[in-house]
Amino acid sequence: MSRIATLTLNPAMDVSTDIARLAPTSKLRCTLPRYEPGGGGINVARVIRNLGGDTVAIYPAGGPFGAMLQRALEELGLPELRVPIAGDTRESFTVDEGETGLQYRFVLPGPTLTPDERQACLEAIAALVPPPDYLVVSGSFPTGVALDFHDEIVALAQRIGARLILDYSGDALRHAVERGGIHLLKPSLSELSGLTGRVLESQVEQEAAARGLVEQGAVEIVVLSLGAEGALLASREGLERFPAFEVPLRSAVGAGDSVVGATVLALSRGWSLHDAVRYGMAAAAATLMLPGTGLCRAEDVERLFRKG
Ligand SMILES: Nc1ncnc2c1ncn2[C@@H]1O[C@H](COP(=O)(O)OP(=O)(O)OP(=O)(O)O)[C@@H](O)[C@H]1O
Ligand SMILES: [Mg+2]
Repeated sequence: MSRIATLTLNPAMDVSTDIARLAPTSKLRCTLPRYEPGGGGINVARVIRNLGGDTVAIYPAGGPFGAMLQRALEELGLPELRVPIAGDTRESFTVDEGETGLQYRFVLPGPTLTPDERQACLEAIAALVPPPDYLVVSGSFPTGVALDFHDEIVALAQRIGARLILDYSGDALRHAVERGGIHLLKPSLSELSGLTGRVLESQVEQEAAARGLVEQGAVEIVVLSLGAEGALLASREGLERFPAFEVPLRSAVGAGDSVVGATVLALSRGWSLHDAVRYGMAAAAATLMLPGTGLCRAEDVERLFRKG
């Protein structure tokens, strides 16, 4: 089985709770909080692990939430490598409003990383034995980390022979696409719109933008996720649309990470691109069915995937 390493530069301890109704000023009584390790790459690793894959999550972490994050990953039995840092790992806060079914997601900035800490992250990946076949880098760049750190990630992936899978947004996404060398990119519609500077309302515009990334040689495979509209796959083999599986929607937290995790796992198992993206759609739907920060369960994913 091939191994998938994930790198999360800005992980978080995800705290989620429920309230009856959000209102200003008055005290809002919350239910007992649930704590789960979070951040793009960590979620991707959890998804891969839930689906029986072989993975390791690499992440810089420090302070009380950093220690809590590591403990939580250990409790999940998820292979992990923590790079100790001087700064304090952040928490992210999700509130589900019972009366409306609405969800509020508060995302705090994380600590910055010193040059030595950044280097230690790369060294942790370089030291993996055997080297991973896939390196997934997902989530935001910590404030103060220059985008050229991404170039070092690309160089490292090339050196160890790992295919690079990216889920970035904003400036990091723009930089990564200019730099190239990406095996698979999973932008959401808003991220791709931000990248192209256009709203991408019509299917034709979405297709042109996704195809453009492949044609310019920056990315081999684009999986553009479209929320309730499913996903659009662009590769040298052409374009294909995937409808979203219809499930009762509880929480969208981790839907995109589920697409990334399941798709990469399927590719690492030698599945066709078509089946891999469909598996990604099934994983996203299985995650949507669960409340809070819960990530897909294998039995739900397999059932949806088989249903077709
Ligand atoms: N409302 C929905 N109904 C059905 N499926 C959905 C819905 N929202 C998300 N999905 C599924 O989850 C996948 C990922 O969702 P989305 O496109 O919102 O990406 P994301 O990475 O979670 O978004 P963002 O990074 O902007 O938060 C979709 O491709 C789809 O399969
Ligand atoms: Mg996303």
